[in-house]
Amino acid sequence: MKTALITGTSRGIGRALAERFIKEGWRVLGTAVSGLNIPDSPSFKGYDLDLSSPQSIGSLCDALISEGVTIDLLVNNAGVCEDDFTDKVISEKLRETFEVNVFGLADLTERLSSQVSDGGQIFNMSSTAGMLSKDLRVFNYPSYKMSKAALNMYTRILAGRLSQRGIFVASIHPGWVKTDMGGGEADLSPEEAAGYIYEFAAKVKPLSDTGLFWFKGERLPW
Ligand SMILES: NC(=O)c1ccc[n+]([C@@H]2O[C@H](COP(=O)([O-])OP(=O)(O)OC[C@H]3O[C@@H](n4cnc5c(N)ncnc54)[C@H](OP(=O)(O)O)[C@@H]3O)[C@@H](O)[C@H]2O)c1
Repeated sequence: MKTALITGTSRGIGRALAERFIKEGWRVLGTAVSGLNIPDSPSFKGYDLDLSSPQSIGSLCDALISEGVTIDLLVNNAGVCEDDFTDKVISEKLRETFEVNVFGLADLTERLSSQVSDGGQIFNMSSTAGMLSKDLRVFNYPSYKMSKAALNMYTRILAGRLSQRGIFVASIHPGWVKTDMGGGEADLSPEEAAGYIYEFAAKVKPLSDTGLFWFKGERLPW
């Protein structure tokens, strides 16, 4: 049985992903800040994780390492976005957003990369909001956009380093998804978004495609 560690399984895309991977016969280790780690299945184990807390990240990683967990797929899904519709970079928001979406995510991944199996996969949940090549007409959510652009560079750095172990690393755009973050007007249900991501995980991919950016199994420009 393959094991996926998915962060942020309490709601939204992470919850739908956990449910889909369990349905496909995977064991899922899921996390949330709230303590509500969700999926109700013997194939699911929940853990508390606050990515803004180095102590919380350390506790989770120590627990997983002492359990000798082998991770076939790490999905760095948990993330935050400022809720004000502003084009101003507010330092406090910038720090809060980077703490979770970049620093915490990278800390967790660096600590757990030894637990990812050779030939395994790491998906960083990014967004077209972080694309540098996009014609940017609206400047809202600047902290979120900056954090996803930084995350994309982490994908490339990680992919380069882990390719010698055959680990496939990808930045994934899930689509505009009906969640607390995406809102009710979004295009896709969390289940549809999770379906595309599951199919991409299950697909055999050449290692030459590691370190790239994807949506519905197709390459996106940076
Ligand atoms: N929805 C979209 O349209 C969309 C588009 C592009 C990219 N994305 C990306 O997809 C990912 C999931 O988005 P979503 O829409 O499913 O978000 P969501 O519904 O807001 O859920 C966010 C998840 O992240 C967890 N989380 C929040 N703060 C955290 C922290 N400090 N430490 C650890 N976990 C934390 C939450 O746990 P609690 O419930 O415990 O707070 C929850 O499980 C994010 O990375 C987002 O940037 C989403």
